Amino acid sequence: MIKIAASMLAGDFSQMGAQAAMIEKAGSDWLHLDVMDGHFVPNITFGAPIIASIRDKAKLPFDVHLMISEPLRYAGEFIDAGADILTFHIESESPVEETIDFIRSKDCVAALSVKPATPIETVFPYLDKLGMVLVMTVEPGFGGQKFMPDMMEKVKKLRSECERRGLNVEIQVDGGISPSTIGVAAQSGATVCVAGSAVFGAADPEKAIKEMKEAAKSCQ
Ligand code: DX5
Ligand code: ZN
Repeated sequence: MIKIAASMLAGDFSQMGAQAAMIEKAGSDWLHLDVMDGHFVPNITFGAPIIASIRDKAKLPFDVHLMISEPLRYAGEFIDAGADILTFHIESESPVEETIDFIRSKDCVAALSVKPATPIETVFPYLDKLGMVLVMTVEPGFGGQKFMPDMMEKVKKLRSECERRGLNVEIQVDGGISPSTIGVAAQSGATVCVAGSAVFGAADPEKAIKEMKEAAKSCQ
């Protein structure tokens, strides 16, 4: 069964604690938290203290997506704040292997992400140490953008590389996921789908999550 990681980016930032609890009750598997620094991406969201302040409002895993230039510099703060999975971009300025090793040394799951223009093969040398790879299906920085179906080739390649090497790595897609796009993502091999506007923008988030899970199931 595909997992849904509801993205707080589309939620109400003045009610983050309550929204984390609501989304857990609505059946989201993970809570996706988009951290942007206004440098790696042209937008600023929130940092570790905000994440720490909502950590006890829900039990679901905190899936922290760092869209920042220096993930190694701040990784410790986000892990201390309660990140269960910490994703950073291969295009960032931090040394990739060292950052992965640091995250793992803190008993946190390390994940690497690729922007749309970055070939998926760039993550292959690190796969043995990763719990997840995030294939962006929009340009990172903003919610509510259109899903890029071309990225499915990358998901398929990643899936077959993991299978060939017998690796159990989660494959996450992020951007433009909705009941109408989740099918092709699931079919291509995604195991975790981030959804922001499709969940928080829905009149009934529980129904929206169910609908996406069902759409994914019928395509797997
Ligand atoms: C975009 C973020 C996404 C965003 C997805 O840079 O990484 O997690 O919240 O939003 P939707 O689901 O609305 O495309
Ligand atoms: Zn994200």
